[in-house]
Amino acid sequence: MQYGYFDEKNKEYLITKPNTPAPWANYLGSPEYGAIISGNAGGYSFVKSGANGRHIRYHFNSMDEPGRYIYVRDLEKGDYWSGSWQPVGKDLDQYKSVCHHGTGYTNIVSDYDNIRTESLYYVPLNKTYEVWRLKVRNNGSQARKLVLFGYVEFTNHNNYEQDNVNLQYTLFISRTYYKNNMILQSINENVPEDQCWRFFGAAGAEVTAYDGDRDTFLGDYRSYGNPSSVENGQCANSLNYNTNSCGALQINVELQPGEEKEVVFLLGQYDEEGASEILGQYKDLSVVDKELEELKAYWHSKLNRFQVQTPSDNLNNMINTWNAYQCFITFIWSRAASFQYCGLRNGLGYRDTVQDIQGIIHLDHEMALERLRLMISAQVSIGGGLPLVKFDHNPGHEGTPDDPEYVQETGHPHYRADDALWLFPTVIKYLKESGNWGFTDEVIPYSDHGEDTVYEHLRQALQFSLDRMGVHGMPVGLYADWNDCLRLGAKGESLFVAFQLYMGFNVFMEIAQNKNKPDDVQWAQGLLDELDTNIQKHAWENDQFVRGFTEDNYTVGSWENDEARIWLNPQSWAVLSGAARPDQARLSMDKVYNNLRTEYGTMLCYPPFKEYGMPVARMVLFNASTKENAGIFSQPQGWLILAETMIGNGDRAFEYFLDCSPASMNDKAEIRKLEPYVHGQFVESKDSPYQGRAHVHWLTGTASTVMVSLVEGIMGVQPQFDGLCINPCVPSDWKDFSMVREFRGKKLNIQVENKNGVQKGVSHIILNGKEIQGHLIPAADMEAENTVRVIMG
Ligand code: NOJ
Repeated sequence: MQYGYFDEKNKEYLITKPNTPAPWANYLGSPEYGAIISGNAGGYSFVKSGANGRHIRYHFNSMDEPGRYIYVRDLEKGDYWSGSWQPVGKDLDQYKSVCHHGTGYTNIVSDYDNIRTESLYYVPLNKTYEVWRLKVRNNGSQARKLVLFGYVEFTNHNNYEQDNVNLQYTLFISRTYYKNNMILQSINENVPEDQCWRFFGAAGAEVTAYDGDRDTFLGDYRSYGNPSSVENGQCANSLNYNTNSCGALQINVELQPGEEKEVVFLLGQYDEEGASEILGQYKDLSVVDKELEELKAYWHSKLNRFQVQTPSDNLNNMINTWNAYQCFITFIWSRAASFQYCGLRNGLGYRDTVQDIQGIIHLDHEMALERLRLMISAQVSIGGGLPLVKFDHNPGHEGTPDDPEYVQETGHPHYRADDALWLFPTVIKYLKESGNWGFTDEVIPYSDHGEDTVYEHLRQALQFSLDRMGVHGMPVGLYADWNDCLRLGAKGESLFVAFQLYMGFNVFMEIAQNKNKPDDVQWAQGLLDELDTNIQKHAWENDQFVRGFTEDNYTVGSWENDEARIWLNPQSWAVLSGAARPDQARLSMDKVYNNLRTEYGTMLCYPPFKEYGMPVARMVLFNASTKENAGIFSQPQGWLILAETMIGNGDRAFEYFLDCSPASMNDKAEIRKLEPYVHGQFVESKDSPYQGRAHVHWLTGTASTVMVSLVEGIMGVQPQFDGLCINPCVPSDWKDFSMVREFRGKKLNIQVENKNGVQKGVSHIILNGKEIQGHLIPAADMEAENTVRVIMG
């Protein structure tokens, strides 16, 4: 069933049926002032931290409530509804609504009983409060008297857990006040003054009554769907003293036929003075349209740096807007706050963050650079990464995963075997996009002590693995590799990490070559050859690569096993790293296609673990076909697509894209459940009774892996040190398509012609009328704006 559609031109997703099978969310603002909102206005807001700066409530794992509610009551008829379908939930035969989720804003347009409301929610650019602009219009032929209520439920403590758990304390430290068109809430906590106050105010209309006490507004044994004050058509002018706070503001309006009125509600963590100043800025309500335009311009200008027009609307929507926007949201928010992540994580996961950077490099390499520096400064001097980079990370002074507290817990250090190796694909991508060659010489501290150039940091990342090799000459698995659930320990070996190391050597050599360091190239080449020999000798099984070896030499991911006999990542990474010979690549990728592919994506391994499990294969704890236990983990889908493009298989790469693209499920939303415009962390696979159901929306490494596979793999746009390579790998029925790409300050309008219907292969390029052989456009030949014809076949 379909609940909405993509509006590519406006870069919006429109929800036309509000009873979506899960809350379909959008992100407003930034972690400086963060807000998450569903198509039914459910969600929460916070300043700086979802866990410690929370000022409005959301009940996780529940019914998508409460939220930013606007109620409308007809004074004469006594009927009432809400600007979003929920919480009142009128009969959908009479209540029509379209929710526009856009880039940094959400606008819910609803029609009921000849009254149209438009509830626009956003956080102005670089501001730390939120705006709800309500437009209400009488589309009928009778004059109407309406009462409007803006409602928000404050937390009683900035810390989300305290607010929910420590009730004997937090209920008694908060009060509300009413002043000058706003409810102010104070929290008596020993925190800086600017965190003790919240406000909910109205501009553009006089508040006629209010409630600051939630229980009075809602009434006894009622819900958000039928609050007492709304049903009465009158707030009680209550204030909170020792119960729960809310901000409810009542505004009475009269509307002649065809007449429209506007009111703006404002919410944030400010005291009376700060709040009054903000309210003052909205005396002239036209500021809202200006702010909205600024917001759109900010996001669209980023996204417009790479746009495509292909025969697939699905792909266009993903590359041009939604996958790209999700990459930014995941990059900015990491795993901090969503409807699954409650905000309690106090830092950035190393591997996730370094990969997230990859998803935005082609759109904003300056933004990527700052985060890349941070992550390099979270590399320990022995070369491994800190598994979690705290928000208050202090380079040069951090403890290490060798610290006794960790070792005591598990008997070995908490290093992940893969963390720092993610720097290789990310750093090289940054260098090639930006042309900022000097970055390799930039000196950055280690997390514990000492400092080095970026180049030497990379060498240390290799050294970390080289210092931890197992009996088969491959890197050990330590506490985990990419797979959180795979504990191969200090002696067991990981093939995934072996392939990462393989890629690491290749990247290091490419950089060393460019820096004219032949000794380093030779050093890395020797080690690469050794690793290659070991992989070929120990890890190839007729037609697939294995996943690893345990400390007692059990082969994980062997076709001989009963469970998890074949794994996806070693096959795709063998190709991505360059370790697979051409025949191995073909055989193993075909085996993946025949054994792991489902109509909803490709499983991480199969069959699921049932018997073999702890302590090595911790995924056995998950139900079969769920998450790492043979679920369709979404992040590896990008690697799979990219690997197929590397071996020239455009048809199959595109097939895999369609399998995993959220947009492919737009008309099967009742199966997928999650938003059809963003990737989730995983999809349940074939041994689940709910095959095709997706989970953990928005904040997932999938955004970046799939984005990279689309941009560099299918569209084939790959920056190089000295120019831009264009080498698409597409379905054979794509006869022509176009792209617009900004590259180092130059604009390229690219038209690709594929008359012979090949999947890969560029015969020549015509740059501004001049023919170039091959597929590299030298940066030196580019003008400010360029016309590029790419001839495939
Ligand atoms: C989710 C984690 O955030 C990520 O770091 C990990 O690689 C995947 N799970 C797979 O286990």
